[in-house]
Amino acid sequence: MPRAAQTAIWFRRAQRLLRQCAARFGDTFTLRIAHEGTWIVLSRPEDVKQVFTANPRTFHAGEGNRILLPVLGERSVLLLDEDAHLEQRKLLLPPFHGTRMEGYQDLMARIAAAEIERWPLGAPYRLRPRMQAVTLEIILRAVFGLGEGERLERLRRELRALLDKLTNPRMLLLPLLLGPERLARFSSFRHAMARVDRPIYDEIGERRAAGDLDERSDVLSLLLQARHENGEAMTDREVRDELVTLLVAGHETTATALAWAVERLARHAYKLERLAEEVRAGATGYLDAVVAETLRLRPVISLVARRLTKPVEIGGWSLPAGVTVTPSIYLLHRRADLYREPERFLPERFLDEPPGTTPGSRSVAASDAVWAARSRSPRCARCSASLSGADRSDPRARDPRPRSDARSRRRRATTPR
Ligand code: HEM
Repeated sequence: MPRAAQTAIWFRRAQRLLRQCAARFGDTFTLRIAHEGTWIVLSRPEDVKQVFTANPRTFHAGEGNRILLPVLGERSVLLLDEDAHLEQRKLLLPPFHGTRMEGYQDLMARIAAAEIERWPLGAPYRLRPRMQAVTLEIILRAVFGLGEGERLERLRRELRALLDKLTNPRMLLLPLLLGPERLARFSSFRHAMARVDRPIYDEIGERRAAGDLDERSDVLSLLLQARHENGEAMTDREVRDELVTLLVAGHETTATALAWAVERLARHAYKLERLAEEVRAGATGYLDAVVAETLRLRPVISLVARRLTKPVEIGGWSLPAGVTVTPSIYLLHRRADLYREPERFLPERFLDEPPGTTPGSRSVAASDAVWAARSRSPRCARCSASLSGADRSDPRARDPRPRSDARSRRRRATTPR
C-alpha cells in the first residue's frame, strides 16, 4: 500500500492494521507512516528481547520519539539518547523512587474518592473524561505540587486545553504530516504552546524563590533541588520540558488504562466481586493481576520505537541503519504461545500462570470457574459473566458505548469474551 494509505489506516485503526498485517505477513513486517521513515514491526519475544537488551547507542529511543519534539521540547528525557539521556534520567529518578511513590498514595486515593463522589448514579456517562480528571488532578498536585487556588485553576485550564488537542486524532495527524520541525515553526502552534508554557514558567520561578523547597515532596520541588554531575541546577527550560513530559507520558496513559479496567470489570462482574472482596480484606495480589491483565489486553500504547544507528540483524533479517524497529506491545500481548486464550480477560493468569511459562495449564480456568460459580449475582447471557445489582438496575450500564453508534452495535455481537 502507498505510504499515504498506510498512514490513513494507522490513524483510523492502528491495532486492527497491526492484527491484519500480522495475520497476512507474519511476526515481522514493515509499515510506512508519513514522515516516520520505515518501521520494522517486531512481535517475536526473542526479537523484542534483543531490542530491549541491546546497546542503546545502536537503538536510539529518543530519535524514535522525535514526533513529540514540538510539545515536549529538546531536553525531554523521552527525546534524548545516550549520555544526555542517562544524565537527564538520573535527575528524574529520585522523585519516582518506590518510597516516594508510596508517599503519594494517600493523595491519589483522596483525589480518586473526591472525583468518584461526583459521578452520577443511575445515569450513563462517559468514563474516560472522568478518569482524565482524576489523573490530571493527581499530576497537578503530585508533580506540580499545587494547592487549591487561582494558580491551580489556571494551570488546570491550560493543561486541559493542551491535552485535549494532543488527544484529538486530527491534531495528531498534523505533526505526522508536517514533520516535527515544520510544525514547531507554525505561529499558531507556537502561540498555543506559549499559553501553556507561561503558567509553567511562572510556577517554576515562584517555586525557586520559595524558601520551603526542602520540605516539599512534589516532583517539581525535587527537580529544582536536583543537581547535574557538574553540580549545576537544572535550567528552567530543562525543568519545563520534564514537567510537560511527565504530564504527556503520565496523564493519558493512566486515564485510558483505568477506563479500560472498569470496562473489563463491568463486563465480568464476578471478577469485580472477587477484586472488591480481596481488597476489602487488605490483599493486593488480585488487584495487581487485574492491572496487569488490563494493560495486557488493552495496551494503551501499541508499539515503542528505536531508530537504528548501525546495521543490525534481528530474527534473520538484515536491517540497515536509519530504519526504526518497533516492538509491538499489542501483538506481543496477544500471542497464544505466551498467553493461553489471549483474547480473554483472565487476571487469574498473573496469579497462577506467569506469562510465557506454562501455556495450557488448567489452573487459570479452574480459578476463574470457582469464582464464577461462587458469584451471588445472576449471569449475563451475552458474556457468561455474572451481573451485580448495579448492572441490573440500568441495562445501559452494562454497555457503556452509546446505543446509536452503529459500530458499537456491530461489535456488541462479538464482545465481551
Ligand atoms: C498505564 C500507564 C503507563 C503506560 C502504559 C506507560 C507506557 C510507557 C511506555 C511504553 C514507554 C516507552 C518505553 C520505551 O520506549 O522503552 C514509557 C516511557 C516513559 N514513561 Fe510511561 N507509561 C505509563 C505511565 C507513566 C506515568 C504515570 C509516568 C510519569 C508520571 C510516565 C513517565 C514516563 C517517562 C518519563 C518515560 C520515558 C522514560 C525514558 O525515556 O527514560 N509513564 N511509558
